[in-house]
Amino acid sequence: LSLFLKSTMWSVLLSCIGLLVALYALCLWIIPAVVQYSGCLALLWHDVIVEKSLDTRLLKAVQDRAIRGNPKSVISVIDHYCRNQEWAMNVGDEKGFILDSVVSELNPQTVLELGTYCGYSAVRIGRLLHSGARLLTLEFNPDYAAVAREVISWVQLVEGASGDWIPRLREHFGIHTFDFIFLDHWKEGYLADIKLLEASPERSSGLSGICAQKSLIRQPVL
Ligand SMILES: C[S@@+](CC[C@H](N)C(=O)[O-])C[C@H]1O[C@@H](n2cnc3c(N)ncnc32)[C@H](O)[C@@H]1O
Repeated sequence: LSLFLKSTMWSVLLSCIGLLVALYALCLWIIPAVVQYSGCLALLWHDVIVEKSLDTRLLKAVQDRAIRGNPKSVISVIDHYCRNQEWAMNVGDEKGFILDSVVSELNPQTVLELGTYCGYSAVRIGRLLHSGARLLTLEFNPDYAAVAREVISWVQLVEGASGDWIPRLREHFGIHTFDFIFLDHWKEGYLADIKLLEASPERSSGLSGICAQKSLIRQPVL
C-alpha cells in the first residue's frame, strides 16, 4: 500500500510540475506568439492580462528614479524600464528618434497628440518645443490620464475621446491651427479622426505634418 501511495504522490507531483511548465510556456511564448496575428486579440492580451496596472508601475519607476522637471530623465527611466522589465505601448526609443527628428524639423507652435497613455511621447515631444508652443494630448482612459498627469506637468492633457474633443478644440482652447499632429491612439480611429480634423475649424492651413504610429497609414510622415 505504501508503495502504491508513494507512486501516486510522485505521479501527482510530476503532473503538477508538467502543468506549471505548460502554463509558463503558454503565457510566455505560445499565447504572445499566437495573438500577434490578430490586432484585437493582441490588445486584449496586453491590456487586460499583461498590462494590468502597468501604468502605475511605470509611474512608480518615474517617481523613484527620474529627476523632477528633467524630461530627459523621465524618458530614459521609462525606456530603461520597458527594455529591462516590462514592454509597454509607448512609442519607445527607436520610433521616438524618428518622432524627435520630425518635431525638430517642423518646429511646431501647436501640436495635437491623439493617445497619451502614460505621457511618454508627450514628454518626448514637449521637451523639443520652444517656449510659447502648445501641446495638447488626448486620452480617454481616466486611469492612464491620471498617471500621465503626474508624468507630465508642462503639457496640457485633455481627458476624453478624440471623437468628442476634436470638434471642440478651437472653442475650448482657442487654438486655431495645429502645425503638427501625432496620431498614436487606436488605429481604428485614425481615418475617422483625420476626417474629423479635416472638417474642424482648427484644420490648419499651415499644418506641416501628421505623423502616425501604426501601419494603417502607409506613409508614416505625410
Ligand atoms: C499606443 S498608446 C499611446 C502611447 C503614447 N503616445 C506614448 O508613446 O507614450 C494609445 C493610447 O490611446 C488611447 N486612445 C485610444 N483611442 C482613443 C480615442 N479615440 N480618444 C482618446 N484616447 C484614445 C488609449 O487609451 C491608449 O492609452
